[in-house]
Amino acid sequence: MQIEFSASAPSQVSLTATIVNKGDMPAGLDTALVKGAEASRFKGSPGQLFEGFTTSGDTVARVALVGAGDKGADNRRLNLEKAGGAVIAKYLRSGEEALVLDLSAAGLSASDAGAVLLGAKLRSWAHDKYRTKLSSDKQISLKTVHVVGAPDGADTDWERQAAIARGVEFTKMLVTEPANIVYPESFVELCKEAFAGTGAEITVLGEKEMGELGMGALLGVGQGSRRESRLLAIKWNGGNDGDKPSVFVGKGVTFDTGGISIKPAPGMEDMKWDMGGAGAVAGGMLALVSRKAKANVVGVMGLVENMPDGNAQRPGDVVTSMSGQTIEVLNTDAEGRLVLCDALHWAQEEYDPAHIVDFATLTGAMMVALGNEYGGLFANDDTLADGLVSAGKTTDDKLWRMPLGPEYDKLINSPIADMKNIGGRWAGSITAAQFLQRFIKKGVAWAHCDIAGMVWSDKPGATHEKGATGYGARLIDQFVADNAE
Ligand code: BES
Ligand code: MN
Ligand code: ZN
Repeated sequence: MQIEFSASAPSQVSLTATIVNKGDMPAGLDTALVKGAEASRFKGSPGQLFEGFTTSGDTVARVALVGAGDKGADNRRLNLEKAGGAVIAKYLRSGEEALVLDLSAAGLSASDAGAVLLGAKLRSWAHDKYRTKLSSDKQISLKTVHVVGAPDGADTDWERQAAIARGVEFTKMLVTEPANIVYPESFVELCKEAFAGTGAEITVLGEKEMGELGMGALLGVGQGSRRESRLLAIKWNGGNDGDKPSVFVGKGVTFDTGGISIKPAPGMEDMKWDMGGAGAVAGGMLALVSRKAKANVVGVMGLVENMPDGNAQRPGDVVTSMSGQTIEVLNTDAEGRLVLCDALHWAQEEYDPAHIVDFATLTGAMMVALGNEYGGLFANDDTLADGLVSAGKTTDDKLWRMPLGPEYDKLINSPIADMKNIGGRWAGSITAAQFLQRFIKKGVAWAHCDIAGMVWSDKPGATHEKGATGYGARLIDQFVADNAE
């Protein structure tokens, strides 16, 4: 879907969507529309949409009024995104090929306008490519949004939002594609294509190199899979020479069967999105690189497939991580931490980070605690934690801080190795975080985001269809904008 700015509405387009603030109907509207909106209890609440038709002479126009909420609302930006998203949700598959989006009535700033357009663009992403029999009335029809009445500077702001949308779309695509399409090697290839010509530097480690580095924890997870594991790093030097980079690390388990500790069959298909942390990091990096962020940033992704096999690791196996610490693998389904511990250690050795933040669909327990509203945030540094929470408020990638502490840490001591990869029945998300913390070097500011409940949604939202939410990509972009640029 294209977004184009025009000075006036193209005459051949007969559908107009007008953004209106709450309780603030624009002057000069057709009386029938005003009556209709009243009768439908349209107030202009965020994302509320009223549709009517008007005639002038013998032409009939289709008109939508779209609510943006109160002008002074705290979450104004998100309300504006919602409004943009609501227009697209309504007309994407409506049969209309173009619409005019009229921004003139809502008193928007350039960045307000950018928020409406970002919401629209994000809500238009869909993944229909395998649906070869989708009936024509369910297919996407909308191709162009003609923006009129945009404030000065809205086109420049849109360039930035378009870069961000590109990143979010990349995350959604990686998360949506099934595991026979996105596996460690193809994940790398997709990133090579997406970042080609951008100036980002890509490093890929194969199994041989990781073996030489001693990444026994990551490699142990992948050893039951026919697919080779990969470690992928994408580096962007947009900041000052010598400034320590922000480093983001993602769990990229392209499919998680559980391994020998195999998962039950119902719902196992969800584990195609167990690479959602790596997807967020890849998309966040693409957003930053696309808008040429003035910061030094690195994204590191640990890419493996967790399968049961004659060569798979067994419960009880002891592996040695790159850090030298040994791990008793009591449950092969607690694999994400095994992947991340080597990725985190390598990232610290290689890049000397200003701070390091990992994203992972790490525990089902996180969904028990927070459902699908907040990701869980664990951190050893309050400033870093606050920065992430605040960025998440801006982009609606919400995070809720969870505790860490020595009493939890004890729960992963092992009688045979330095630690075991599971704790007891309780506090499963916290013991997972404690495990990761054992691989963070002294003095390094670290945060861990357990996003198991956030990557996939069984219902549509303001900025996504049912399915991949794109969670994390904008959070990374916003955090860098707020803290490193
Ligand atoms: N990828 C899963 C966590 C998960 C579950 C993410 C459901 C999204 C939805 C992770 O690898 C896992 O299997 N964790 C186990 C840990 C347990 C064995 C300690 C879990 O949460 O059950
Ligand atoms: Mn697992
Ligand atoms: Zn997993």
